[in-house]
Amino acid sequence: MGYVLTIDQGTSSTRAILFDEELYQVAVAQEEFEQIYPKPGWVEHNPNDIVLTAMSCIEKAVKDARISFKEIEAIGITNQRETVVAWDAESGKALYNAIVWQCRRTSNRAEELKKSHEELIHSKTGLRPDPYFSATKMEWMLENVQEVKAAAERGTLRFGTIDSWLIWNLTPEKMHITDYSNASRTMLFNINELDWDQELLDLFSIKREFLPKVVDSSAQLCSSIYGPIIGGIAGDQQASLFGQSAFNPGDMKCTYGTGSFLLMNTGNAPKFSRNGLLTTIGWKIKNEITYAVEGSIFASGALVKWLRDGLGIISTAEETETLAKQAENNGGVYFSGALAGLGAPYWDSTARGLFVGLTRGTTKAHIVRAVLEYVAFRTRDIVELMEKETGIKIKRLLVDGGMTRNNFLMDLQSRILGIPVDRSLIKETTALGAAMLAGIAVGLWDESSLKDKRKTEIEFTPKGREMEEEYHRWKEAIKRSMNWET
Ligand code: G3P
Repeated sequence: MGYVLTIDQGTSSTRAILFDEELYQVAVAQEEFEQIYPKPGWVEHNPNDIVLTAMSCIEKAVKDARISFKEIEAIGITNQRETVVAWDAESGKALYNAIVWQCRRTSNRAEELKKSHEELIHSKTGLRPDPYFSATKMEWMLENVQEVKAAAERGTLRFGTIDSWLIWNLTPEKMHITDYSNASRTMLFNINELDWDQELLDLFSIKREFLPKVVDSSAQLCSSIYGPIIGGIAGDQQASLFGQSAFNPGDMKCTYGTGSFLLMNTGNAPKFSRNGLLTTIGWKIKNEITYAVEGSIFASGALVKWLRDGLGIISTAEETETLAKQAENNGGVYFSGALAGLGAPYWDSTARGLFVGLTRGTTKAHIVRAVLEYVAFRTRDIVELMEKETGIKIKRLLVDGGMTRNNFLMDLQSRILGIPVDRSLIKETTALGAAMLAGIAVGLWDESSLKDKRKTEIEFTPKGREMEEEYHRWKEAIKRSMNWET
């Protein structure tokens, strides 16, 4: 029996998961790490925490499964996307904290770019100017961090998303690579020509040699320091689309993680959206490229974490389900969860969070319920936009991620959308997708044998679309939370 190991390096925690050849999860190890908020709207991670938590999770998972590294056939890596690390090729040391995808420090630069380069960026990368993507974060480091500037002058600067940083640290020969799905999130990669785009590199003053070589998402890439080969790399949202076996155009999933990410497979040609969806690369396997369209909600699970750690009004994430059920309705309270700005279809990085409709009768239960309703209403925004932009009527939403354990939310989601919500038996579809990519590379399985492995745990089936009036009230709350931070 062979095993595949996935490292799932997410925004809030790092995990290592071991799958057997039947894709059963045999061991999992998880570690949270510090979230650094140096200023309002700024988010950073310590790059060393990322490597150390990955290493300690790998060792723990392998020990718990009582296997040896020799029994691992391949390693898959999946990661929070867009987050940037800068390091020095000679010392191997990180030169600054990782600037996280949620970080809004380059909002002003993104606003400028919207005026001057929106169309150019969109047609080349499928993205729109926003501090979310890696390019302005790299540019910011080059302008503001002395150590980064000096390494650029010496020619030893290396930039990478988290996959690159992990692979650099986990390979004996210090490979500097990334895959197509991660490259497509940088705002520097031309998704038509499948190469770093010189015009965009010049726009952000980034030299090609600072950036990793772009490789297939599934291929025998290089041996790791543990021995087994790294066979799969994908950004976490693309990995979970793959893990949901969404191999055909029109297949769509939503992962409820730190943020919520809805992706639809659109086949071998990019579909450019006019109204705020992103076009992205799903994966590249054996010369075949698959594109996807994406709509994201920057904070969803993060809102529950904020209720717990920031406000302290709940002590566990599970409590949100009990509390939301206690309230018969939202008590007139509506919430805009724009804690890190708003993505599709609003794209307002200056929007901030807002509760509206509070009265003396408002309870903790109403607040919690309004937060969960926010997540479900925002998902409706994106599903509707996807239908409009692709002309495909969505009949079923495949879901995964931590928040899908909340049955109240899943039921609410299906009623707000008016379509069945299909919760996958394996909740870790992100890790699963990366394992599948790695296993394909070493010949453990292929796409057709993987298709049969996806199983539904529960389908939440609505009677029809509900909460129409509440949705329109909530839209008003969203409007009021926009154009806030100047
Ligand atoms: O684009 C950001 C995304 O990749 C983060 O995912 O799972 O860490 O919330 P997650």
